[in-house]
Amino acid sequence: MTSTNHEIIPKARKASQSPKLQQQVVDLGKAKVAVTATEAGFVTLKRQMEKASKKKKHLAGLPSKELYTAKNADAHELYQLSVQSPEEDVSFLRRVYKSLRKKKAMHFREDFCGTALLSTTWVSKFEGATAEGYDIDPSPLAWGLVHNLKGAGDLADNVSLVMGDVREKSTVPPDVRCAQNFSYCCFKEREELVGYFKAVLEDLAKDGVFVIDIHGGSETQSEMEEEREIEEKFTYVWDQDRYWPITGEALNHIHFRFEDGTELFRAFTYDWRLWGLPELRDCLMEAGFQSVQAYWEGTDEDGESGNGVFKLAKRGEADLSWIAYLAATK
Ligand SMILES: C[S@@+](CC[C@H](N)C(=O)[O-])C[C@H]1O[C@@H](n2cnc3c(N)ncnc32)[C@H](O)[C@@H]1O
Repeated sequence: MTSTNHEIIPKARKASQSPKLQQQVVDLGKAKVAVTATEAGFVTLKRQMEKASKKKKHLAGLPSKELYTAKNADAHELYQLSVQSPEEDVSFLRRVYKSLRKKKAMHFREDFCGTALLSTTWVSKFEGATAEGYDIDPSPLAWGLVHNLKGAGDLADNVSLVMGDVREKSTVPPDVRCAQNFSYCCFKEREELVGYFKAVLEDLAKDGVFVIDIHGGSETQSEMEEEREIEEKFTYVWDQDRYWPITGEALNHIHFRFEDGTELFRAFTYDWRLWGLPELRDCLMEAGFQSVQAYWEGTDEDGESGNGVFKLAKRGEADLSWIAYLAATK
């Protein structure tokens, strides 16, 4: 047992995805989570978990007014608070599956899962629900284990994590598989993107549905910053630093600014290609999906902002900045 109470118990079974990957159970006390990674990956993961635990303990001892400063703030926590809405996302994904397949989705796969917040939320929603999250970076995975999954107690047994590429095969064919927060934009070449979509299609359960979100509108091609005040008393900044029209590439950052005047500059950076909605639909169809449906966000009472309710739509509106979902069926 390490000083931070995270025991990694080797499990006899090797994961089938790749000979270099192995599965171990990460013991978080009440929660036991099956994690697949390379041997070297586990060493880094353990180190990152210790770091996350130390920080968690340190922050627990601080008065709340000292939490949100560049010195103390935890970038993964700030990201979750600013960018993610797991309850809404999970209920949307379940609703889409139910409306397309007339039954309940049980097994979920979260690609580019980061801290696995969606997977953790998914298994907490109904009995028998299971989830697996895939991410290549040990840092958010370790943070997610120490915070989200440890906090979920027994339910975390229903989540497994893979520290690997999203093109790896699932352990169990998923009913719903998703790639949230535009993460597939890391695939800049059409061949790469279609290759990823083909891997998703082959891997889905028989009635599986693949859901991705997309950010579009003319403003996404501008070099600009957008600030949003977050309830916990810090400012989230979405910085569209560079956009190159010929390649469609964009370099974006997230900064966090605090009331004491300090800043976590470039807490996260995204080197993406901005794919258009019809392009994505074409790539999904080219990969072999049977149908691709768009879900468009309704307008709030103020007549300007989105209301968070996404409905099936054929044409959408030419807003300066919009978010939509695509659901592709096998
Ligand atoms: C924008 S974050 C998304 C985090 C979270 N899923 C969300 O919805 O907010 C993108 C994540 O994708 C991961 N990533 C990037 N390329 C990947 C790949 N080829 N395979 C697996 N994960 C990848 C990064 O490590 C990062 O955690």
